[in-house]
Amino acid sequence: MGYHAEYNAWKSDPESYWLKAAKAIDWDVAPTRALFDRGDNMYEWFSEARVNTCYNAVDRHVENGRGDQVAIIHDSPITNSQSKITYAELQTRVASLAGALKAKGITKGDRVIIYMPMVAEALEAMLACARLGAVHSVVFGGFAANELAVRIDDCTPKAIIAASCGLEPNRTIEYKPLIDGAIELADHKPEFTVILQRVQHKCDLGSNDVDWHDFQNGVTPADCVMVEGSHPAYILYTSGTTGAPKGVVRPTAGHLVALNWTMKNIYNVDPGDVFWAASDVGWVVGHSYICYAPLIHGNTTVVFEGKPVGTPDAGTFWRVISEHNVRSFFTAPTAIRAVKREDPKGEFTKKYDLSCLRALYLAGERADPDTIEWAQDILQKPVYDHWWQTETGYTIAGNPAGLEALPVKIGSPTVPMPGYDVQILGDDGHPVEPNTLGAIVIKLPLPPGTLPTLWNAPERFKKSYLTAFPGFYETGDAGMIDDDGYLYIMARTDDVINVAGHRLSTGGMEEVLAAHPDVAECAVIGVADQLKGQLPVGFVCLTNGVNRPHSEITAECVKLVRERIGPVAAFKLALVVDRLPKTRSGKILRATMVKIAGSEAFKMPATIDDPAILDEIKTSLQTIGYAKEAT
Ligand code: COA
Ligand code: AMP
Repeated sequence: MGYHAEYNAWKSDPESYWLKAAKAIDWDVAPTRALFDRGDNMYEWFSEARVNTCYNAVDRHVENGRGDQVAIIHDSPITNSQSKITYAELQTRVASLAGALKAKGITKGDRVIIYMPMVAEALEAMLACARLGAVHSVVFGGFAANELAVRIDDCTPKAIIAASCGLEPNRTIEYKPLIDGAIELADHKPEFTVILQRVQHKCDLGSNDVDWHDFQNGVTPADCVMVEGSHPAYILYTSGTTGAPKGVVRPTAGHLVALNWTMKNIYNVDPGDVFWAASDVGWVVGHSYICYAPLIHGNTTVVFEGKPVGTPDAGTFWRVISEHNVRSFFTAPTAIRAVKREDPKGEFTKKYDLSCLRALYLAGERADPDTIEWAQDILQKPVYDHWWQTETGYTIAGNPAGLEALPVKIGSPTVPMPGYDVQILGDDGHPVEPNTLGAIVIKLPLPPGTLPTLWNAPERFKKSYLTAFPGFYETGDAGMIDDDGYLYIMARTDDVINVAGHRLSTGGMEEVLAAHPDVAECAVIGVADQLKGQLPVGFVCLTNGVNRPHSEITAECVKLVRERIGPVAAFKLALVVDRLPKTRSGKILRATMVKIAGSEAFKMPATIDDPAILDEIKTSLQTIGYAKEAT
């Protein structure tokens, strides 16, 4: 069946469509009904079924004869090491870890925070939680203690599972001080922390800490605990319109059904094939496509600890693909831009046999035409952009290569997937004509696996997503649909920016800057950057009477954001200005500032911390009267 037939099959009978897709999952109690309308625009999928995620991602493959197949390849150019874990080994390891967690009192519904780098044990920790029906919340290693503390207070975990350190090319990140700092800042105190000691740095264990290996000694391996279909599989925090992150809830059964569906239909892999998503387990791409989807589908997944360039060179991606026989490769455009910058002619692709690779998939931020064309050219393979978000957990619009590869239109992530009725609405809430910009919305109900609510915040869920356009889910993106039904994603409608494929809230950064004693008011906007897509720039107005050197204050602002949010914010530039553009009612005109920053002087600067760019920013601000002596 081609794309259109498949999409129409879903649209004409969604209930049968999803019940059919559910047959690919092994249930304890199979669903006889797919959708449950809970009223007030709230929906659940497969609520009456019972199932276990870990059983579907691990045990069933061992039972079905895949025990000797490699489940996880760990490839770490940073530590210069590689290892492989078969499905049978994974089952033993995960059952043992789950047994140890169970012995420490972790049961179904308990929350567990996972704070780990790109090691295979991060996946084992996620799967061990899933095995027990415990709800994990993975926190990206690039966030600071304060961000970890916010998440601890929101999801009140019984335990934290962490490693002793993460490794960036230029430094070792000691996790223990960050965890201790977060626990001290948080009101909620987890009962214990499990630490995986890495050889690169071993930390001292405190009285509430247990060693990953020691605490598994002598425990009884745990069996899979079956849970109801709408039981939360995990909580993943993402940036919203204020500094407080939103806890996206992922429902168990829909997640299994939908992710499994995507592996063949979108990524075009069969069980046994090697699939690689070069992201981080701390992001939704890592949850869905490093851990769950490939394992649920019986693929081999690659856990890559490294960077696209510099570890050791811009050929790393191609080496991993060729060495591990990767069929479908998924990363963020920013990573490809980094490779292109180092190796513009694609010389490194000639060093490796890439015949195993079928296609490159890009998502996480806008894929600029230059990057797509360059990648197509050097790889001589299709490059598929696809669009989705943490909230959905998988593709909203993409090119369904496994169903039918549609013609690529550069600049468009192609078409909506079955399950998604995507529409473009104008300010009046009515659909606009093709090729006209508007808010991108999805008609309710959203398909299986997407967020049913926000953790502990159902009202915020409704306000953030369901209120602006009644009957629709508001994606927060603006764009258009062309005459052929292809979707184009043009901008965010809120304060979210996308830095190196990482979703960040400028509101969150403003909250940090506003806490500086010399800052009277501030605004943070995203400015185009050639490598990272966008970079945050902060504009601060000083409190009357402050006459310290501006450079001192801006350096403190930069330090503060790094300390409170983390290095991942990539906040390196703050400018002191006399005033901020405002409406009569005093609202800061951030959109106007973005437009100013989008003027010629700011277009895709090579790097934003380049002194020449800094000068241009100052001059532009002075020209338009917002700064007499911006620093
Ligand atoms: N733990 C601690 N610090 C981290 C981190 C982690 N897991 N990940 C990143 N950081 C730090 C970096 O070291 C950097 O610190 P610095 O300011 O001291 O240099 C800072 O956070 C910003 O990181 P990043 O924006 O990723 O920049 P980078 O220069 O390290 O790498 C890219 C740039 C483009 C190579 C990299 O972002 C990349 O490969 N991204 C694409 C893949 C991806 O993960 N996408 C996510 C969604 S699909
Ligand atoms: P995240 O929740 O971190 O995955 O970020 C989701 C947001 O990133 C989307 O709402 C978009 O703003 C942006 N995004 C993701 N993929 C794409 C894409 N293919 N094209 C344009 N923007 C994208």
